[in-house]
Amino acid sequence: MVTTGVRAVILAAGKSKRFKRRQSKLLAEICGRPMVVFPLRVLEELKISATLVLGYQADQIKDSIESFKMKHVDCVLQGEPLGTGNAVLCSQSRWDKENILILNADVPLLTPELIKQLLEKHKQSGAIMSFVSTHVINPTGYGRVVEQDGVTRIYEEKDCPSEYKSENRVNVGIYVVKRSFLQDGIQKLERSKVSGEIYLTDLVELASRRGEHVEIVGAPFDQVRGVNTLQELWAVEQVMRSNLIKHWMSNGVRFELAQGIHIDIDVEIGPDSFIGTGAHLLGRTKIGEGCFIAAFTILENTVVGDGTMVHSHCVVQDSVIGGDAHIGPFARLRNNVVVADNVCIGNFVEIKNSTIGYGSKTKHLSYVGDATLGDNVNIGAGTVFCNYDGSKKHKTIIENDVFIGSNNTLIAPVKLGEGAYAAAGSTITTDVPPQDLAIARARQENKGQYAKKFRGEEKKKEKVFCNKVCTSKKKDDERFHFLGAVKTHDMPEESV
Ligand code: UD1
Ligand code: CA
Repeated sequence: MVTTGVRAVILAAGKSKRFKRRQSKLLAEICGRPMVVFPLRVLEELKISATLVLGYQADQIKDSIESFKMKHVDCVLQGEPLGTGNAVLCSQSRWDKENILILNADVPLLTPELIKQLLEKHKQSGAIMSFVSTHVINPTGYGRVVEQDGVTRIYEEKDCPSEYKSENRVNVGIYVVKRSFLQDGIQKLERSKVSGEIYLTDLVELASRRGEHVEIVGAPFDQVRGVNTLQELWAVEQVMRSNLIKHWMSNGVRFELAQGIHIDIDVEIGPDSFIGTGAHLLGRTKIGEGCFIAAFTILENTVVGDGTMVHSHCVVQDSVIGGDAHIGPFARLRNNVVVADNVCIGNFVEIKNSTIGYGSKTKHLSYVGDATLGDNVNIGAGTVFCNYDGSKKHKTIIENDVFIGSNNTLIAPVKLGEGAYAAAGSTITTDVPPQDLAIARARQENKGQYAKKFRGEEKKKEKVFCNKVCTSKKKDDERFHFLGAVKTHDMPEESV
């Protein structure tokens, strides 16, 4: 295997100065995953043990990789970021294999295939050092790969003589070096007179001047783009996202406006599904077959069953939705909501930490919090589950076939037994036994002909008021004021 006898070192101690953010660029998420995790995942897949060189924001970077449960990664610290040559030197105690694979941590589009290809060429050619290069229209920021009098060398941006500035074959920051050469060569690197940094890339010239073979492996730019600036981050994310979208298209997913979709790397989508413009599919979201996810809906860490329709402008987080369900538009589901098959959650409904049984409906303007609903329950418009008493959260249990009329207030903890009925406008404070009807609202009283009398009184008041104003101001003014109208001759000419 090409990966045997290889140990990796990943350089992640830099200060990200060109990124112009407080946070290290390596913590920036690309399609939902911190940048530093991408090279680590590639090495994990190839089963190559890796040492991460950390410095700037070392603890935050360590924390960010924690949840990815990498098996073959350890860390060393670089005190001062004196350059990539110095960073590699800091990992010396871990060089336990014959070949040391060195990767910049800011090359998130790299693939296991490229690493295998590099290792293969390195071993076949017997080179003491091999590295990956690419061709790029604008090489600014990259080290230029130059052949000069039979010597191969890399000129860094700041040190590059003007005649090589437009050289568009560039170094991408992926190398493999024989340990014996690395141990010796790394000690000999000197600080750049221009930047004061120790450049790892000077190893190439050192090897070449000794007459040793240095192998260069070409790769497409879109697999090896580096990220120093926010613009480069944006470009890398565009490439990754369009690769993901192409992948799901080839599996039968229709995207309404593909360039406007935000999709994370761990998202899965079943065939025959439709994803609307501006949808955000985040985290570990898993969408079934034949689903319809309408425009501007956000699904985060959410499972959607086959044939379900999530209408536009919904926000669903950390939830599970069954098959053939209808959600939204404008619905919000959060904190572990479990919705069974055939459920209907309508407009302006918020559901939190609740389970909704088969075929149940809550179609309009409701809040359901900390509740368990059985099958075929109906929740009327405007119903509020009062789960919080100011210090604790309480549960509401609603058994199968319960009907809750519109505008109910359910004060938890409370239980409505199977088949119970709560009349519209009720405030339910105590349990309702199965099949009972609960009415908890003020009884209506009709006062005979009071409406007519009331209107008569109002008319009289109107007359008195009109007479009063008429005596204190000019007549036409009062008429306008009383009717709430604006006199056009008081308004500026142009706005008439
Ligand atoms: C580097 C290469 C350049 C190449 C480019 C590809 C050098 C000197 N230059 O330049 O030839 O074209 O990558 O993207 O290597 N780091 C440390 N410690 C340090 C300095 C950097 O760990 O003291 C880490 C950074 O966190 C980063 C990586 O090394 O992950 C590369 O450093 P960066 O400053 O981005 O190098 P470039 O200027 O891009
Ligand atoms: Ca870089």
